[in-house]
Amino acid sequence: RPRTTIHTLLSLYKAHTPITMITASDFPSAHVADAAGMDMILVGDSLAMVTLGMDDTSEIGLDEMIVACRAVGRGVQGAFVVGDLPMGSYEISPTQALTSSIRLIKAGRVHAVKLEGGAPMAPTIRAITDAGIPVLAHIGLTPQKQHALGGFRVQGKSTSSALALLRDALAVQEAGAFGVVLEAVPAPVAELVTRKLAIPTIGIGAGAGCSGQVIVQADMLGNYPPGRYLPKFVKRYGDVWSESLQAIEAYGKEVKEGLYPAKEHTYPMKREEMAEFRR
Ligand code: KIV
Ligand code: NA
Repeated sequence: RPRTTIHTLLSLYKAHTPITMITASDFPSAHVADAAGMDMILVGDSLAMVTLGMDDTSEIGLDEMIVACRAVGRGVQGAFVVGDLPMGSYEISPTQALTSSIRLIKAGRVHAVKLEGGAPMAPTIRAITDAGIPVLAHIGLTPQKQHALGGFRVQGKSTSSALALLRDALAVQEAGAFGVVLEAVPAPVAELVTRKLAIPTIGIGAGAGCSGQVIVQADMLGNYPPGRYLPKFVKRYGDVWSESLQAIEAYGKEVKEGLYPAKEHTYPMKREEMAEFRR
């Protein structure tokens, strides 16, 4: 498939064709997403939880993100790959953010970076985009700031917070972001913000009025242990955990019963060589 570039994304946006984005965290999750034709792949720091089993995203560092970004990059032929700047790698100063972004591009081999925050991050977004690195902003529910937000809650529900969200969206656009993720925002608010902007909005829990959608791959595939809490906006398109469970249980049973490996899974040896070996 041809390589998706920033121009491809802009054409989709102008044509009002919804942009498709999904997360990936390693080689297999990347190549399947790329084969499925996703326009964009996000190496989201949600991999801290869904791939590494951490409690939240604050634990993951830039080095671990780089390992994941490289693995994802090896599996992608066509999609535009965005890497998340993890908590602690960009908040201190625009210089710190630019240094981390350059590492994600050079070592992580991604095409763009994503960071959380609106108006207060504008100078940072400006510094990164001025260096020629495309930035995807992320506003609304910003999981890295969950403790300041008081947990994972819908953002922009009141008139004043909807206005603040719009101001954040305009600020990141003005600072040079090529797009903005809107997470957990009432659908009518996200739709209005989308109409006020001249860059694509990528929604997650923000309704169909956005310019595109993003979803966490493990969530939509059902590739997580039973009982995991899922936000309301996740639609489960698969049941990968149960399929894996069935396959591994079947393997275990067949090994116990001596049914696996069967003859077709073994290597033969010439009779004469074997006779010699026996002596
Ligand atoms: O880390 C992530 O997966 C994300 C998406 C949910 C937007 O930031
Ligand atoms: Na993220």
